Amino acid sequence: MISGEGPRGAIWCAAAFRLPFGEVAAYFPPHFQQMPTVFIKTYGCQMNERDSEAVAAQLVARGYSIAGEESGADVVLLNTCSVRDLAEQKALGKMQALVGQARKRETGQVFGYLGCMAQSRGAELTQGTDGVQLVVGTQKFHRTGEHLDALLAGRETVVVDTAEESGSQSRLADHPLPGAVSGRRQVSAFVSIMQGCNQHCTFCIVPFTRGGERSRTIPEIVAECRELVARGVREITLLGQIVTSYGRREYPPEGGRSGFVQLLDAVHAIEGLERIRFTSPHPKGYGEDLVEAYGRLPKLVESAHLPLQSGSDRILKAMHRGYTRDRFEAIIGRLRAVKPRMGITTDIIVGFPGETEEDFGETMSLCRAVEFDNAFVFKYSPRRDTPAATMAGALPEEVIEDRHRRLLDTINEIGKRRYEALVGRDMSILVEGISRRNPARYEGRTRCNKIVVFAGAPRHVGQVMDVRIDRVGTFTLYGDPAVVGLGEREVGLGESDVVVETASLKG
Ligand code: 5AD
Repeated sequence: MISGEGPRGAIWCAAAFRLPFGEVAAYFPPHFQQMPTVFIKTYGCQMNERDSEAVAAQLVARGYSIAGEESGADVVLLNTCSVRDLAEQKALGKMQALVGQARKRETGQVFGYLGCMAQSRGAELTQGTDGVQLVVGTQKFHRTGEHLDALLAGRETVVVDTAEESGSQSRLADHPLPGAVSGRRQVSAFVSIMQGCNQHCTFCIVPFTRGGERSRTIPEIVAECRELVARGVREITLLGQIVTSYGRREYPPEGGRSGFVQLLDAVHAIEGLERIRFTSPHPKGYGEDLVEAYGRLPKLVESAHLPLQSGSDRILKAMHRGYTRDRFEAIIGRLRAVKPRMGITTDIIVGFPGETEEDFGETMSLCRAVEFDNAFVFKYSPRRDTPAATMAGALPEEVIEDRHRRLLDTINEIGKRRYEALVGRDMSILVEGISRRNPARYEGRTRCNKIVVFAGAPRHVGQVMDVRIDRVGTFTLYGDPAVVGLGEREVGLGESDVVVETASLKG
């Protein structure tokens, strides 16, 4: 069965099902008694997760089944990340191991690379590891199913498809039906709003792997969000490489509101949607219109992931980031003025070429001044074709290691303090399902994007509840359903995380 056009243009997949042998035989060689199973392993960011989900939905719609593990799957696809060399090496190592095992056991499995590394390395990936038959780039995810059909039916032996395709940003609207891919009810969903990036930070490979900025239309995005909400999704995270650049060409500012804020307004109007998040913004996209949106739009949660990269103006300039340390601090100040309990996280690179101890000290001091709730700290990794890869001043590995450890210690110390300050507070959470850390518990997310683990029940999933925080773990909160209405509320729009600060009834 092939996917069809849904009522509003998005493609919605049919439930997972397996074709009877007669129909399978028409497509594939006789050793396939049932439609093939596919395992997809995802490396990297939420965009990649979302792409994998859309590929899975597309394959299910064609009759394939999604396997929970690689062993025994007829097809194994690695959806790759190129942002640092480590991510590429992980995928390459994994593929080598998979192909080696398959050859030894003569499983006849089909292997493929999808996504960013597939885009940047192309055909070379089929040459190094004998056995890789499929390479699908970032503008061709929507063709994965037809390529697999051709490979499995023996019409092709190797497919490398990494060409650019105009309009590809709109061809990945499939979402798996509940239960078709994972057993979890989907409370929170990712929606891709754009692809690519025009910023050209000197360290970053993304413009080469994802291409230039291409935005989907507001009606298309709203239709996809509506459909998700109709299926029970309550929180939507709008995704893009730089979401704040959304619709720069297509939607000129209207009444002082950028294309991105116009999109936020449109998604906010969807009835039944409880929360809106987005990632990642660029600090330079935080104009007054966006800051003001946090105060104006109650569904827009108090959370921002604002990539800093460095606290040194000299390094920020060499990185081509387009803001200064002062400007970054001013943005955080304005956000906290509108929403004092805003959860703020960031990305930081240590060891950029030419980074002195003084530059690094500026990053440390900015982190202490801003007090992020958490941060991803990366060791600079030279990427092919990027300007920074050939800059003078490459740092020795030990220096990068040392700065990485010192910054992580600082981030952890600040994060611990900020999490501990929440003990005793009542916070509003959206319950996502069984805890990934402890299967005997449930977990939800606060508006400021912190995970809360608590003793819940299946009926809580998808509910907004108040829980009292009673202890903290490493970047995790533990809570009790709080006083008000046994902790359950229908809708919690417009409230901050902190609901009430009364004594616990249980005390
Ligand atoms: N080296 C190290 N970290 C990088 N990032 C992007 N490119 C590199 C690189 N070459 C980090 C940035 C970005 C995050 C997704 O990955 O911090 O925000």
